[in-house]
Amino acid sequence: MGTWLLTGGAGYIGSHVLRALRDAGHDAVVLDDLSTGLVERLPGDVELLRCSLLSDSLDEVVGELAGRRAVDGVVHLAAKKSVPESVARPLDYYEHNVGGTVAMLRAAAAAGITRFLYSSSAAVYGETSAEPVTEDVATLPTSPYGETKLAGEWAVRRHAEAVGASWTALRYFNVAGSAAPELADRGATNLLPLVMRAARTGEPVKVFGDDWPTPDGTCLRDYVHVADLAEAHVAAAAALLEDRSPGALNVGRSEGTSVLEVIAAVERAQGPVPREIVERRPGDPARVVADASRIAEVLGWRARLGIDDMCR
Ligand code: WQD
Repeated sequence: MGTWLLTGGAGYIGSHVLRALRDAGHDAVVLDDLSTGLVERLPGDVELLRCSLLSDSLDEVVGELAGRRAVDGVVHLAAKKSVPESVARPLDYYEHNVGGTVAMLRAAAAAGITRFLYSSSAAVYGETSAEPVTEDVATLPTSPYGETKLAGEWAVRRHAEAVGASWTALRYFNVAGSAAPELADRGATNLLPLVMRAARTGEPVKVFGDDWPTPDGTCLRDYVHVADLAEAHVAAAAALLEDRSPGALNVGRSEGTSVLEVIAAVERAQGPVPREIVERRPGDPARVVADASRIAEVLGWRARLGIDDMCR
């Protein structure tokens, strides 16, 4: 088991990764600027380095840590993650996601750290026509967010190749659910939290189009439980400790679930969900479903939880 520097560890996904790493016997120190992360998500005995990736003191903070603890690698999740915000403020995304990743790599290099697990996204595929999406299809991101995630992957890969480090990039599909109430996603901009809110408040959720070329006319996505996703990080960390470089890997269930199927699942868990069919949302692809066979082969990981578990 290793000791990991986990950036973004106070976030929705990061706090699940932290818990899974510790449950598997790893140790982790969290680096987070708490801009969107919540300190309440961190267990009391976890060390928190409150520092931005863009801070002048990043090298010093990481160097000081590596001076007193043997750090085996970096699990790099800290990033900005809103697609529409990235369209409105692209430079913020390039600065934080690309610049922040480069700064993290430099700080790690100065501290002698040579294993990297990078948090990537299905957004790197963009308008791919492939179905299902394998890791080998062309990456054609359609948002600044997706571009910065892809550029970050490139930086990690090129740096790792240049210095002989090991690396992997996990390309998350639609992450949902939570392992505990205090770890839940508080942002509520993605479909599942919006549907749950509609069940709670009686305010209808908008369904963005029911005339798509899919079985029920609504868009298909590959929803993966955040606890399963966190286990994928544990499997990737084990590979990195063996100095393997699994490269870029999809993390999904290889199963498409429609918007109406998500609503039906929330109804099973919480009761009636008012909905309203509205226009298609610009930029939405009809279907984004992973081929997640490579991660099963390379890391032995596969999702165990389904859409009903995510709603519960
Ligand atoms: C899911 C489905 C909508 C809201 C985004 C990013 C992606 C990744 C995950 C970060 C779509 C439909 C949604 C609503 C709806 N993010 N929908 N009514 O767009 O698939 O992916 O989040 O890494 O990069 O692009 O997720 O949750 O917004 O939408 O009908 O009010 O639900 O059209 O089909 P998306 P989402």
